[in-house]
Amino acid sequence: MKMKTVSSAVLRRFAALGVILLCASTLSAQKRPYPTAAQLAPTPPMGWNSWNHFAGKVDEADVRAAAKAMVTSGMAAAGYKYIVIDDTWEGQRDAQGFIHPNSKFPDMPGLIAYVHSLGLKFGIYSSPGPRTCAGYPGSYGHEQQDAETYAKWGVDYLKYDLCSYGEIIHKAAGDDLAKNLAMQKAAYEKMHKALESTGRPIVFSMCQYGTDSVWKWGAGVGGNLWRTTGDINDTYRRMAAIGFNQAGLAKFAGPGHWNDPDMLEVGNGGMTDEEYRTHMSLWAILAAPLIAGNDLSAMTPVTLSILTNREVVAVDQDRLGKEGDRVWQQGPLQIWAKPLAGGAEAVGLFNTSYNPHIVTFKLSMIGFPAGAHLRDLWKHEDVQATNGEYTVELPRHGVVMLKVTR
Ligand code: GLA
Repeated sequence: MKMKTVSSAVLRRFAALGVILLCASTLSAQKRPYPTAAQLAPTPPMGWNSWNHFAGKVDEADVRAAAKAMVTSGMAAAGYKYIVIDDTWEGQRDAQGFIHPNSKFPDMPGLIAYVHSLGLKFGIYSSPGPRTCAGYPGSYGHEQQDAETYAKWGVDYLKYDLCSYGEIIHKAAGDDLAKNLAMQKAAYEKMHKALESTGRPIVFSMCQYGTDSVWKWGAGVGGNLWRTTGDINDTYRRMAAIGFNQAGLAKFAGPGHWNDPDMLEVGNGGMTDEEYRTHMSLWAILAAPLIAGNDLSAMTPVTLSILTNREVVAVDQDRLGKEGDRVWQQGPLQIWAKPLAGGAEAVGLFNTSYNPHIVTFKLSMIGFPAGAHLRDLWKHEDVQATNGEYTVELPRHGVVMLKVTR
């Protein structure tokens, strides 16, 4: 009798387990688990953003033209895939509180479908504050609704810019730095959770201008990338001030979570081609998101060749996902190096001065043997080190970028 009782209890347990497993498998068939950060952004995101060139003037026609040009120019084939509308697309909220685009973007879902039809992905912009930096409606108090709207429209990427939420924090926290930080974290985490709850994979780009060591906590609140600086502009002075100031941040970047020294200005006209090569090389060594900021529908061949240099893009997109750092500096000359998969190393030799300078790169600076193999990634040709040293003249504000293999 006792035996019978035990076996029916066991049977009941098996039956219960079966029901649980069945439920679990039905659930997983309905809703896939949200991708991990490393799945969402395994390498630094590449794309285009409207702000640097179009700023507040951007409209649907500009974005369609950018998307089309991304494909026809060869940018997409080189790895660029996100088309991101920055600030000034926002219109009014309806009676239920859902956001609608303004008259510059009469059909957002249609525009996004067009971008997707080209094989590209689409990004949008908002703020945790009531107003964006350009004064348009932000997501304050509507975070969940906005995340749902973005998911419904087919958005794949969100840039979330602190803007007026900074004032709310300041009013509430005053000089209490711990409270200030806690409020920033909570604001970003809130939107991250809202995005996650939609089930749609959406890359989360944090923009709070690199304050409060965001690189230490950005990943913890769901950021896939976070700005490490204030805004870039189209001058060598600003680009160099930002780029060469990124030393020491490498350990905070990796697959799924990237330091973002702001978008590219390549092709916007304020720098020389050599300065733009410096910009592109430095961003690649920094494993920075490569978000072009020029008018893709009106690029010169040189601009296109800088943005799509496969060997330089490959450094940025290297699957090891290590950010580079400065290894040597003397006066206006700097040498930066980035470890690559398979034990190779990308090396940038930079001259920040107004005059040309000769620099000597020693293989020992990166712990490589004298016989290592060198390739110039802008000339696309192999070059030769002599006795473990490579000496070369760098133009003013110029660069030589090398790949070093053992
Ligand atoms: C801030 C950001 C910029 C851009 C503008 C838009 O300044 O840092 O990248 O998004 O807002 O208003």
